[in-house]
Amino acid sequence: MNRRYGILESLREKNDFVSGSEIGERFKISRAAVNKHITALRKEGYIIESVPNKGYRLKDSPDIINSEEIKRDLNTRIMGSEVLCFDTLSSTNDKAKEAGERALPSGTVILCENQTGGKGRRGRSWSFAPKEAIAMSIMLRPDFAPEYAANLTLVMGMAVNSALRRVCATETYIKWPNDIVLGGKKICGILLEMTTEEKDIRYIVCGVGINLQNESFPADIENTATSVYIQTGRRFERQKVIRAVLEDFDRYYLLYQNPENLPVLLEEYKKSCINIGREITAIYSDRTIRGKAIDINSAGELVITDENNNKTALRSGEVSVRGVYE
Ligand code: BTN
Repeated sequence: MNRRYGILESLREKNDFVSGSEIGERFKISRAAVNKHITALRKEGYIIESVPNKGYRLKDSPDIINSEEIKRDLNTRIMGSEVLCFDTLSSTNDKAKEAGERALPSGTVILCENQTGGKGRRGRSWSFAPKEAIAMSIMLRPDFAPEYAANLTLVMGMAVNSALRRVCATETYIKWPNDIVLGGKKICGILLEMTTEEKDIRYIVCGVGINLQNESFPADIENTATSVYIQTGRRFERQKVIRAVLEDFDRYYLLYQNPENLPVLLEEYKKSCINIGREITAIYSDRTIRGKAIDINSAGELVITDENNNKTALRSGEVSVRGVYE
């Protein structure tokens, strides 16, 4: 931890005034240097009171995204091995790919405040509310075969769903394969990109966009997109949600390494999947199939049955569920 955040941490620990000389002694710096660090922290948005003869007191911490804040109390084994935060990026996925090309470790996390060219699935764009939504990508270097990677999006879906339920107490569900829905609209999208070398994975980038504090959406998506704030009227700190997603993804990812754990993971996924038991329309390889979703099979495919009891297993495609956004 660098000195500036060390000072912040000691203010946080004390939760009361700490004198400039006490801080100075602890960090072996002059009082003038302490003052310089306090000024820098204030510029970042931390509200720090200073009272003569008493010292400094942390009154409020802003919901800013920086590596020290994200790593604070982060309880993971892989995710967050490195956390790189930027003010503006075109796409966190693209930046995470650069991390994959460099020698950065598996679990490197890329975050930004403003994402100007966010990418969605099927070549769509992903619009992003600066400082309100979360744009995060995780670069992974798994040992498994490329065929095993596709269902990581389901694993990330489970992690986001569980993290939002835990932190925001929202009744979120997973819409197969990996959208997270709340109040019938989408609050999170996941985009997985993989780079292979011969038959091996070089790295995977798993990008997540979560609409947390957005107050509104552009007209073209307002019927399908929503945010935790719009649905609950409450603002949750992005840092907290990010940490929770990283922790839950870490847990599920470690389980996912061992194929013996797949049945347990699948059962958990199914409990959160909004499609099961509902009428759905699937657009699949230029065909439109209507039927009832009855299961997710061990390959992560959505199994549907039509009125003639014909079963089809869908690998991917657009699935709309009655009552949920089309
Ligand atoms: C979807 O179409 O549902 C997937 C959307 C994924 C958006 C996220 S935002 C963070 C990461 N960076 C990107 O450019 N895309 C993903």
